[in-house]
Amino acid sequence: MDLESLRIAAQDASRVKGLTHGFYRYPARFSPKFAKAAIEAFSDRGDIVLDPFMGGGTTIVEGLACGRRVIGSDINSLSVFVTRVKTSPLNSPEQETVADWSESVAARMVYRHPTVDLADILADNRTTNLQLPRVRSIKKAIAIGIAAIEELPSAKTRDFARGVLLHTGQWALDNRKQSTAMGEFRQRFVEDCESMIQQLQAIPSGTKPALVNCPAEQLPGCRPFHDGRLADLVVTSPPYPGIHMLYHRWQVNGRRETPAPYWIADCRDGEGGAFYTLGDRKEAKLNTYFERLGEAMRAIRSVLRAGGKIVQMVAFSDKSKQLPRYLAEMESAGFDELRRESGRPFRVWRTVPNRKWHANSKGGTSSAREVVLIHRAT
Ligand SMILES: C[S@@+](CC[C@H](N)C(=O)[O-])C[C@H]1O[C@@H](n2cnc3c(N)ncnc32)[C@H](O)[C@@H]1O
Repeated sequence: MDLESLRIAAQDASRVKGLTHGFYRYPARFSPKFAKAAIEAFSDRGDIVLDPFMGGGTTIVEGLACGRRVIGSDINSLSVFVTRVKTSPLNSPEQETVADWSESVAARMVYRHPTVDLADILADNRTTNLQLPRVRSIKKAIAIGIAAIEELPSAKTRDFARGVLLHTGQWALDNRKQSTAMGEFRQRFVEDCESMIQQLQAIPSGTKPALVNCPAEQLPGCRPFHDGRLADLVVTSPPYPGIHMLYHRWQVNGRRETPAPYWIADCRDGEGGAFYTLGDRKEAKLNTYFERLGEAMRAIRSVLRAGGKIVQMVAFSDKSKQLPRYLAEMESAGFDELRRESGRPFRVWRTVPNRKWHANSKGGTSSAREVVLIHRAT
């Protein structure tokens, strides 16, 4: 068990890169180096690694690359889509098909393209705030891409194509200060398709992850656990108590929110922000958060073998009140915290780079600090 490597990796502050991690900028992603170090410290080849709050799928991608069997789930349908695209390698004919498709579609991404052909796609209710003048032309370019998806021959190539539109769309729209011209988008789209094809080649093609769209509280009833199998290790990062995170929206034109990622990925939307964060961060005392966290941890415990570890990255808007409560939920769910020989718990604190969190703590400064907690299933 290499705890020193895990400690160093947990403090990694470099830009997220490598494998297919760059396909989507999922909010609050953790470092691939951290996920890899945790997997290597607490599991062996062939073991089952689970991430029940998988987000952008960092653990899932790293687990596959390390030769583990992996199970990922998340309450957010977009997370399942993104992780599926990141872990579905294309064979040579498929690569050629999508590369040709991207060039043919880019040639059609022009202002004069008749909008009547796109009427249904443009009117989709998941396009809120994309009619604003600064982003309208990108909406049209993406709609042209969506309309052309059906030209592709298989579910896998169609998912990949949506993944490329999502990637270039996020670059062009999400939190972007300046507006993007359609010509710029078109060129970038073809380049992104090419580089995503290359990046996917590093993903092993032998094993497929089991991915499910399910709340962690309901994990034991989910398909991957139907045959009674148990995970050997959990590497995860649940929503943080009291900290605002926009998992389900992009921000365009200043801070206007749009559900556009669901439109592009063709995923189900319609739940409010609190749905994705275990409750409303403004709720006094965060009772809903801690109740749901406890339920989720009990469910996770029941699909983890005795002795298996759960390694998690978490942060608090008010550490002095929330950390003890968090640890109490872990204990009552059937987990013991890992300790050093001295008896002190093994925890790694890190300062989060470039992150502006909107914590509801009054003047608290802990919101830019994350901690790695390690527990053992009793
Ligand atoms: C901090 S993010 C995980 C980020 C991930 N570690 C990565 O590297 O991309 C937390 C995730 O928990 C998911 N989530 C929130 N409530 C959930 C629940 N009750 N069950 C399962 N997933 C949930 C959110 O949708 C979000 O994707």
